[in-house]
Amino acid sequence: MSDSDKYPDDSGRRRFVKGVVGGAALAGVGTTGAAAINSATTSPGAGGGPTQAYAIENTAGPAPRGMPQIPIEIDSDGFIKGVWPEVKTVTQNGIDVKIAETDDYKGSGVTYSSAWFQYCGVQSYGGLAPDYESDNYFRADSGGYDWQQDAYSAGDKLNIEDFGDYKEWGNGIGRAGLGKPATGTWRSQDAEDTMPIQILRSERIEEAAQDNDWLAASTDQGVIAWLNKCTHFCCVPGYKQAADAAKFNAEDGVYCQCHQSVYDPFSIVQTLFTALPRPD
Ligand code: FES
Repeated sequence: MSDSDKYPDDSGRRRFVKGVVGGAALAGVGTTGAAAINSATTSPGAGGGPTQAYAIENTAGPAPRGMPQIPIEIDSDGFIKGVWPEVKTVTQNGIDVKIAETDDYKGSGVTYSSAWFQYCGVQSYGGLAPDYESDNYFRADSGGYDWQQDAYSAGDKLNIEDFGDYKEWGNGIGRAGLGKPATGTWRSQDAEDTMPIQILRSERIEEAAQDNDWLAASTDQGVIAWLNKCTHFCCVPGYKQAADAAKFNAEDGVYCQCHQSVYDPFSIVQTLFTALPRPD
């Protein structure tokens, strides 16, 4: 991990275009700030450099930006998977390198790239290699919410049927009925490092997807997913997982216990940052 990723310049922080909103409280849509990135220097190596990603918004704490969304699909048996971009070969600095990138993702106009996940060391994970072989399903981890312990063993694929009570679900932290979460892993089955993900099924996402091209393309049946690595110092945050979140007004958000960063999973924004290159 480079220092520029761990310690982003204040001047390069939190530049995003407010995008999608999922409720009345989030109705303030507008453009915030000028586009700039943490470093003007193009990173050496494969597939790094200036990257624009969609992310769940960072709303408080020291994190420099939101956590990147993972577009999802649900198969005919209800299993939920994260979509991996198309693998292509491009020429960078005269050298052919493989990248994973989909232009105009499902007609949304968004370029979806694996560079969205290239920070906090994840750029070196086996699962981040463009051609890593994976079925891309989200799988239960060994921790997670109490309901997951009953429904799954570690390694089981997450299924939409287990989220049927998403309009009522609660666990005593914050308000019930905002959505039902799960934690899991992605593209990590035969890899040394585990990519932590979080998903959330919510009516708010379902509604927001009705009039937003990106959310319509990247979510399904109210399910949204993101890479669950705090952009501050790379801890794994949680939605309604820490009782002390309420002290930081984060009981209905995604809260990182390490240094109290807060993310809003109902506010999807564009972030601009310098993705770290993958090792060659
Ligand atoms: S707030 Fe520091 S790692 Fe998340």
